Amino acid sequence: MSVIKWTDSYSVGVAVLDEQHKNLVLMINSMHGTYDQGIMFDVVMKMFNYAAEHFHLEESLLRKRSFTGLDRQIREHKMFMRKASEFAGKDLSDPVTHTQVVTFLSEWLVHHILHEDMQYREILALYEI
Ligand SMILES: [Fe+2]
Repeated sequence: MSVIKWTDSYSVGVAVLDEQHKNLVLMINSMHGTYDQGIMFDVVMKMFNYAAEHFHLEESLLRKRSFTGLDRQIREHKMFMRKASEFAGKDLSDPVTHTQVVTFLSEWLVHHILHEDMQYREILALYEI
């Protein structure tokens, strides 16, 4: 998968969440062509920590608004965190592994934003955050 190009169709209508999504996109995009194990490990860890913060905020906003899909969101987020920690232990300088990791992260994020996060767009849009 090539780099993710942010478009307005990725917007969930909440500025702070869009900003965080954009930063996750930047981190994942920065992995393309980076085969240095140390740099890759640092980016994966940075993304892991940033994603943890982002998921925490997202889940607390959804809980506050009694979003019915919250459990599903939590499950998806946990899966992402499990995968990211798995990736941190891999040989990210190996081109095959590297491609698998970057492809998974890119596809997961795009799919998650467009198919899962988009479902809360309307409910969060009703409130001032
Ligand atoms: Fe989410």
